[in-house]
Parts: sequence; structure tokens; C-alpha cells
Amino acid sequence: MSAVINSEKIPNNVDLASDRKLGRALEAWQPRFLDWWREMGPEGFQEDLVYLRTAVSVDTDGWAHFDYTKMPDYRWGIFLTDRVSDRRIGFGDLMGEPVWQTVPGEHRNALRRLIVTQGDTEPASVEQQRRLGLVCPSAYDLRNLFQVNVEEGRHLWAMVYLLHAHFGKDGREEAEGLLERRSGNSDKPRILGAFNEPCNHWLSFYMFTYFTDRDGKYQLLALSESGFDPLARTTKFMLTEEAHHMFVGETGVGRILERTCELMRKNPSEDARAEGGIDLPTIQKYVNLWYSVSLDLFGGEISSNAASYFAAGLKGRAHEDRYPDHMALEQSLTLDVPGQGLELVKQDVALRNAMNEVLRGEYVEDSQRGLDRWNKILEKAGQSFRLRLPSTRFHRAGGIYAGHHFDPEGRPVTREEWERRSGEWLPTEADEAFVRSLMQTPIYEPGKMAHWIAPPAKGIKGMPIDFEYVKRQA
Ligand SMILES: [Fe+2]
Ligand SMILES: [Fe+2]
Repeated sequence: MSAVINSEKIPNNVDLASDRKLGRALEAWQPRFLDWWREMGPEGFQEDLVYLRTAVSVDTDGWAHFDYTKMPDYRWGIFLTDRVSDRRIGFGDLMGEPVWQTVPGEHRNALRRLIVTQGDTEPASVEQQRRLGLVCPSAYDLRNLFQVNVEEGRHLWAMVYLLHAHFGKDGREEAEGLLERRSGNSDKPRILGAFNEPCNHWLSFYMFTYFTDRDGKYQLLALSESGFDPLARTTKFMLTEEAHHMFVGETGVGRILERTCELMRKNPSEDARAEGGIDLPTIQKYVNLWYSVSLDLFGGEISSNAASYFAAGLKGRAHEDRYPDHMALEQSLTLDVPGQGLELVKQDVALRNAMNEVLRGEYVEDSQRGLDRWNKILEKAGQSFRLRLPSTRFHRAGGIYAGHHFDPEGRPVTREEWERRSGEWLPTEADEAFVRSLMQTPIYEPGKMAHWIAPPAKGIKGMPIDFEYVKRQA
């Protein structure tokens, strides 16, 4: 099953050759994908040779093949993890029944919606990041950006395969729509808020890959539990690629912190900005921004959709097998819900209706682990400043806290106070302009780093840090 036929137009391990109709439909979509890539993918680098990892099979050691590739020649393929024999639905009302290889009619709309929503995030992030290469801090970082970008492109392929293979005409129309919406475009925006936020500089890029790609990890974990087996197997494979994206984010922020501490030591009043670095309070504001917009991606705290997805076996919890009870009918979750004025009142919510919140809770814990590692860097450098995750109520645009105001500690505040103080908590236009001012010129010379960031601990795939990760052809 996992043998990949690379001589085909579309590399795949789903035996596309035996389904000519599907093969032709995807071959017709392919040039439109490439048009989109050339229009909305990384600007100014389409002819360059980039040292990229390409999936060539799903075996543990075979899927990561490294070589120089022009991005438009990247072998975007369709890979599902191997089928588990006699796999059974692991949660919800249909617990223990065999998983489905085709879409059950009664779940067609819900599954399509889940797949389109996931699929839409993939090209959206490529669009958000398309101009970052022009101001890259190093060739190493430039290569990592492009690795993330081509893999998000492949994630789009993964979802488009499901739409074409299992959802007929509607699926083909949705696949077109995925190439038509545009991040941040008010006429045809991407579906989810965080994927319409501008990502104008590398501090935002690292925060995005740390926090927003991590939402992706949790959505993929939940979908990899699905009773719709092709979805489960596709998302399982996507997770292997997602891990690198979060690595780029975590190490990127870590390297900024390292450099900021160095620059603070140089300055008599420990002023990182005066030394051309990014000061710690500004970094905290970007944590607050990207974490809060990413929390929204999990959906409402109280959600009947989430309950029905769980009941029907469409979307489980992350690592469902670690939970003792897979029915989730008896328990409840207590939430702090906005009441009258500025008060919060406790409300018990049936667990199935709180599934978004359960997944968000796992995400919060996972996010904290990286913060702990970042704080170790600060501690080692002798700084007393510590980065913190704000409350999950802070700066929310969806769910029960939307329309209310909270400070980073989660205390309710009036609109007036919010307006007066939000510039202490979130990046202001001046912060944004300052960060961008540090990133005016790109650094392409191998081994050289921008002033505001420390070099990475090591290179990619055993290569030195000063390896020529991108061969500019211009
Ligand atoms: Fe992705
Ligand atoms: Fe990603």
C-alpha cells in the first residue's frame, strides 16, 4: 500500500492509476493549483533551487527525501498512512463498529464541512506568508519558510483528494473554492479568522508556526480519530509534516530571545530596542496576539456541532485512546461563563457539548510546554522577565467570551478599560512598524544572520548552518 509511484504526474500511494476518472479530475485540478501557487505562493523565489524535503513514501524513514528543487517542481503528492486492518470507530454512539471507507450519506454534509474547513487553512497560510522571503533573516530561515509553504500546499492536496474521491460534484466545486478564496480579502476571505490576519514579519511568522500550526496539530489529531477512514489516514500522515512547522516556530522565537538577551547585556539600561533587537515586552504582545487568535480556531466552548461530530464518530478527541471513557455521556465540564455586567458564573456543560473546549485545553497545555522552554532561555541569560500565556478569555473573537473584554489574567474589564489598555497587551501599530523596521533587507548569504536573531543550534539534515540552503537564480 505504501509503495509510491513517483513516475506518475501526481505522486500517490492511493493507486490513482486504477481509478482513471479520479485521476483525470485531479490532473485537471493540478494546473489550477500551480496557477494559484505561482500567483499566491512565495513571491520572488519561484526559480530558485531550494534544499527541500519531499515525501516519497510514508514509511518511517522513506518519507523524507532531501534535495534541491524549484518550488513549482515540488512533487506535491497524495499520501495516506497504511490501512489498519479491522479498524473500529473508537468513540461516540457508533463505538466499536467498523470504520467507513466511503462517506455515509447522513454524514456527507458534516464531513465535507470538516474537510473544507481544514483544507482552507492550508493555502491561506501560504498566502499570509508569501512576502516574508523578501525580508528573510538568513538562508536557513528562508529554506524553512519554503519547506513550510510547500507542505501546506501538500496538505491542500490531501484535502482536495478526499473531496474529489468521495464527494462527487460538490467535492469538485469545493476544491475550486479552495483556490478562489484569498487570505485577508474582504470579498472572498478564508474561512477562519486567524487565517485572514496579516503575517507581515518574521516575529509573526514564528508565532504563527508555533501557535497557529499547533491548532492544526490538534485538529489533525482529532480528525485522525475519525470513523471516516480515508480522513483518519490522511490526517495521520499530515501530522508528520506539521511537527516541523512547530519546530520552526519554537526555535525561531527561542533564537530571538537568545539574541535579545545578548543585546540587553550590551546596553547600560538593558534596552534591546536601542541595540536593534526586539524587546521582551513586545515579544509578549505577539504571544498574546497569535495565541488568542489561534484559540478561536477551536470553535465555541459550548457547541452542539462538536457534540454531534463526536456522537457520530466524525471527530474525536486528540489521542482518544488515552481517555478512559469513549462515550462521554456522563461527565460535564464546568466553564466560567459571562453573566451580568462584569461577573463570571460557573456553568456545567455536558461533556459532548464541550468537546471544542476539551481539545482547546489540550492545546493550552501543549502551548505552555514551549513557553517553559523559552523561559529557560531567559533564566539562563539571567533575565527575570518571563513569558506567559494569557487567559483563554483574553482577546477572543469567537465563543462565549467574544464581545466581552478581559485582561491577560482573564479578569473582566470594561470596554473603556480595554480601549485604554489594549495597547499594553497587544501589538500596536508602532510595535508593528518597529518590528518591520528591523527586517528591511533580506539576508541570503549562507551562514549570515540578521542582527535581531541568534543562529540556529544546527543546520538541516546534518548540513552545516552555512550550507547554501537556497541557490538564488536571479
Ligand atoms: Fe497544514
Ligand atoms: Fe502547518
